[in-house]
Amino acid sequence: MTQRFPQDFLWGGAVAANQVEGAWQTDGKGQSTSDLQPQGIFGERVERQAGDSGIKDVAIDFYHRYPEDIKLFAEMGFTVLRTSIAWTRIFPEGDESQPNEAGLAYYDRLFDEMAKYNIQPLVTLSHYEMPYGLIKKYGGWGSRTTIACFVKYAETVFERFKHKVKHWLTFNEINMSLHAPFTGVGLPEESNKQAVYQAIHHQLVASALAVKACHQIVPEGKIGNMLLGAMLYPLTPNPADVMETLQQNRDWLFFGDVQTRGYYPSYMTRFFRENGITLDITEQDKIDLRQPVDFISFSYYMTGCVTTDEELNQKERGNILNMVPNPHLASSEWGWQIDPEGLRYLLNVLYDRYQKPLFIVENGLGARDTVEADGSINDDYRIAYLNDHLVQVREAIDDGVEVLGYTCWGPIDLVSASKAEFSKRYGFIYVDRDDQGNGTLTRTRKKSFFWYQDVIKTHGESL
Ligand code: BG6
Repeated sequence: MTQRFPQDFLWGGAVAANQVEGAWQTDGKGQSTSDLQPQGIFGERVERQAGDSGIKDVAIDFYHRYPEDIKLFAEMGFTVLRTSIAWTRIFPEGDESQPNEAGLAYYDRLFDEMAKYNIQPLVTLSHYEMPYGLIKKYGGWGSRTTIACFVKYAETVFERFKHKVKHWLTFNEINMSLHAPFTGVGLPEESNKQAVYQAIHHQLVASALAVKACHQIVPEGKIGNMLLGAMLYPLTPNPADVMETLQQNRDWLFFGDVQTRGYYPSYMTRFFRENGITLDITEQDKIDLRQPVDFISFSYYMTGCVTTDEELNQKERGNILNMVPNPHLASSEWGWQIDPEGLRYLLNVLYDRYQKPLFIVENGLGARDTVEADGSINDDYRIAYLNDHLVQVREAIDDGVEVLGYTCWGPIDLVSASKAEFSKRYGFIYVDRDDQGNGTLTRTRKKSFFWYQDVIKTHGESL
């Protein structure tokens, strides 16, 4: 008989502060990199003024409506909710000597509300945003000063929430800095590799120091990293394609290697040499890096292919990666290729490599929903996507992979990260808002709401 999900498997969903909260200037919040990108990660960057109306400024107004939303998550049976703390609510400019009490108080209220329903928080310290103040003053992660600011922020929230939050993540999709340097490390998009890898180095040191601080301040807590897990396959069995695929997968596995082993993998020596990159890595950095994470978390939406054949090398931008499409897979309307088996494959690859527990902290289908005349939303495509992926998670568990839990992306509709759209929806809960920001923000249960409720209730037996 196929292995079941473990009894203590955590079921839930994942959101990020800047994609749900809104209230972008409320209670002393400072401007973050996300506020500067009203059109999303790949849109134009603008300095904002009070009164501007970017769609993220209200988002789904989770800042004020969280009690209603958490009640709905509880109705589905969630045992975990992944969210992030907006760094700029705690340190609005990033380098203040004292934290902003109103920001801390908001997260106290949020975590207390979750506790009412026995929903555990899984908290990301930095999800695609950092204080803009740190960029203006120091040049973002290009500067070592940012390491100290981040560690102070991390220590502040560990201290404050140590009795309420036991599961933490450092940086969301830390490998995305290679594709979107402004969002990832606060550098101009056109920065060269030397600058980007130096900033990444600073961020890796900061991540390790946060692991250390978490272990000291929250001794019974667990802290993980977070990778954008976009596995690449060779397009053909040509050995050159296979080798190139190994190299390109190392682009992102490198982050996991440092965060789990505590040092740079040897293949990076050659990479840096061949790319003319010389990093400033101090002896103290090498000591600081030796703080392996307790578990590995990752997002999974799709896979892609790699080829060395120039004619076949027709890339498509999916999410933040340019990948060659796989001829065996169908795509979502946004060109993301749907590959449930790839999730089992990725879980096995990561477990073989790291031998650490894994947490799937994002997975889902961005799709357009139709509200029927009777108000119902019949999102069978979303149910099929999630069902197929969860079946593969169960297969991986049967393969012997230790999986802590599953938080699908956007259990309630939210603003998309790449293009700040509303029409691309992930939720079990529909939010009445469109790309122009019109709508009542009313919440409605979709068909998938009841499907997920059943999955959790039966502990995956209904899949
Ligand atoms: C992940 C991010 O890359 O993908 C999320 O961590 C994001 O923040 C999600 O929302 C889906 O991407 P998008 O562009 O459809 O919102």
